[in-house]
Amino acid sequence: MAIDPEKDLIETRAGRDTSFFDLVSIDSVTPQDMELIFALARKFRSYGTHKFSFNKGCSLVNAFFESSTRTMASFDLSAKQLSMDTSNVGSNSSTTKGESYLDTAETLDSYNLKILVVRAREAGVPEFLARHVQTSVINAGDGWHEHPTQALLDALTMLDHFKGADLKGRTVTIVGDILHSRVFGSLSRILKKLGATIRVAGPETFFPAHVENFGLTLHHKVDEALEGAHVVYALRVQEERGAGGFIPTAREYSKMYGISKRRLDLAAKDAILMHPGPVRRDIDVHSALVSVDERAHILQQVENGMAIRKTLLWLLGNRTDSSIKEFKRK
Ligand code: CP
Repeated sequence: MAIDPEKDLIETRAGRDTSFFDLVSIDSVTPQDMELIFALARKFRSYGTHKFSFNKGCSLVNAFFESSTRTMASFDLSAKQLSMDTSNVGSNSSTTKGESYLDTAETLDSYNLKILVVRAREAGVPEFLARHVQTSVINAGDGWHEHPTQALLDALTMLDHFKGADLKGRTVTIVGDILHSRVFGSLSRILKKLGATIRVAGPETFFPAHVENFGLTLHHKVDEALEGAHVVYALRVQEERGAGGFIPTAREYSKMYGISKRRLDLAAKDAILMHPGPVRRDIDVHSALVSVDERAHILQQVENGMAIRKTLLWLLGNRTDSSIKEFKRK
């Protein structure tokens, strides 16, 4: 007998909700939340672009005040595949005429949204807005701070590759512009929750002050950091945040820290190469690795982004508890 995708998802969810109403930081994601999110994401992924009716009659606004390809498109497509109505505002919004983020969010909240997805250049904007609106707010990346849905899709990619429930005994080497990276902000938090060993490699100018207190090791020599690593996670040099002033030239950076085949071969035999995108080919990672090396899991990350975002939209946009607004006020 053919499986009914909706029934399968409902059975997997088993009436569970997340412990959080807004997702602004990985700090608020518990081990139980992760177990639920990953189980549902795997199911959603297995059903591809199947159209679910779960969030019919619910609306989502993508408020992206900074550019995006994968995060914005995947939230929009995910919402549509859950039968939501969607609208996108951002760099073309009335903030360009001097309207504040708060007035913008309160205006959008008046449309009785279920979900407001926010990306901003400044750290703390999604958290601030979440305190003032009734709708669930999802942080789609705030300044140098966090990008929690990226961390969830990254963790799912790693767990599925290593077929484990956690990352104990696994070493993740993060290479590049840690200082300006919100991806690092969320990734380091989730890796800690999953028990991974974290190594960080790059030029000293990219190491935030006291980052070693977070329980990771710092490496100036990238080869040393890659030795035996299970995941090689390359980050982009974020020139839009002024990173160009922290390194001599992109060519120099690529020579010293770019991930080449020789460097990737230093990692463990079953290692994978990851990158949040957008990739700057031949600066962060050598182009041939991105396109043809089977260790590159960059497009698997993108695919998992859809599954994770669909899961979050279902969980946050269609809670099984009836006291949604009371939950928000707690
Ligand atoms: N990884 C990521 O956030 O990519 P976009 O900027 O394209 O959304």
